[in-house]
Amino acid sequence: MKNYKKKIYHKLINNKVSYSSKTIDRYKKNNDKKVINTVSVKIPQLEKLKKHINSIKNCDLKNNATNMVFADGNPNSSLMIIGEGPGANEDKEGKPFVGRAGKLLDKMLDAIKLNRKNVYISNVVNFRPPMNRRPTDEEIIRYLPFLKKHIEIINPKILLLLGSTALNALVGNEVVISKARGKWINKKIGNIELEVIASFHPAFLMRQPDQKKHAWEDLKMIRKKMSDLKIKLNG
Ligand code: URA
Repeated sequence: MKNYKKKIYHKLINNKVSYSSKTIDRYKKNNDKKVINTVSVKIPQLEKLKKHINSIKNCDLKNNATNMVFADGNPNSSLMIIGEGPGANEDKEGKPFVGRAGKLLDKMLDAIKLNRKNVYISNVVNFRPPMNRRPTDEEIIRYLPFLKKHIEIINPKILLLLGSTALNALVGNEVVISKARGKWINKKIGNIELEVIASFHPAFLMRQPDQKKHAWEDLKMIRKKMSDLKIKLNG
């Protein structure tokens, strides 16, 4: 049927249709799909992950801990920071980096005009290792899928790994922090791709204050990357 005949026909049956002579592209991809990245979507996913972690069985870390230490900060931040594991203060409060190392981390963030309202912080393991020992390889392997899921949910653009435990867990055991720090690594974690940088852990910097100059260089690199990626973190 010609277009004008179709119009008459639809007028007769009282159907309001407008015709276009354009062909229909049935193979057109749906490019309108947007990654929904809002806090309201992330919160239920984070709650589910927390439940998953809390349901771990036969874990010495969990059995000896007072509280699970999940995360702190802004789930919508483009900068996620990963430490090693909770210490005594964190175990008591259920929040990462609230002890002496945490105070130094706050100062480091402040030096590049950041704070806990505009970054997101977690750890390789979510329960305090007894006597503040380093988590064992088995423990790291056990918690790694949770950490990767956590990173996927937050979907940051930049990941800062503090210290060798976080570096080795996420980048590999063949790298050492003194050599790998201050270098950008483009990495895929789960289904997201992000810019990763390692730096010294604040607890190490408290023991070796002469190394703070290197941490400062790393922090400046983060600030520069944020500006290159047009990341605004003024929360
Ligand atoms: N050290 C860490 O690695 N994480 C914390 O949460 C506290 C101290």
